[in-house]
Amino acid sequence: MKRQLIALALLGLASTPLWAADCSTTIEANDMMQFSKSAITVPKTCSQFTVTLKHTGKLPRAAMGHDWVLTTRADEKAVLADAAKAGLANGYLKPGDKRVIAHTKLIGGGESDSVTFDTRALKNGPFVFFCSFPGHETMMHGTLNVE
Ligand code: CO
Repeated sequence: MKRQLIALALLGLASTPLWAADCSTTIEANDMMQFSKSAITVPKTCSQFTVTLKHTGKLPRAAMGHDWVLTTRADEKAVLADAAKAGLANGYLKPGDKRVIAHTKLIGGGESDSVTFDTRALKNGPFVFFCSFPGHETMMHGTLNVE
């Protein structure tokens, strides 16, 4: 009983209670080739994390397609090079690319997609996220950290 009370007291002192960790986030993408976030923080208490991508624009997938792709910074350039070769038919990602930690579908205006990944996959960072549509990464790019 005493131990439980102490545990409860310690949890109460934490600025972000463990049970309240938000293990999801939403990021918007638009027709101006912009993401609404340049950084995402994954609480280390999350065993899984969900990212929802919402394309708030109107342009179709073939013209202004966006996805949310997570890799290590070290793998980013090679993944992008293979994505361009894979083409629109493959959603601008090499099928089965093992360097991709998580990714949503490539979507067009008005669409959304979510991806949930195991946070144990987050090792050997730093991690970056980007849109793999050719040319978009220069503007649609951010960092993902575990804290
Ligand atoms: Co894009």
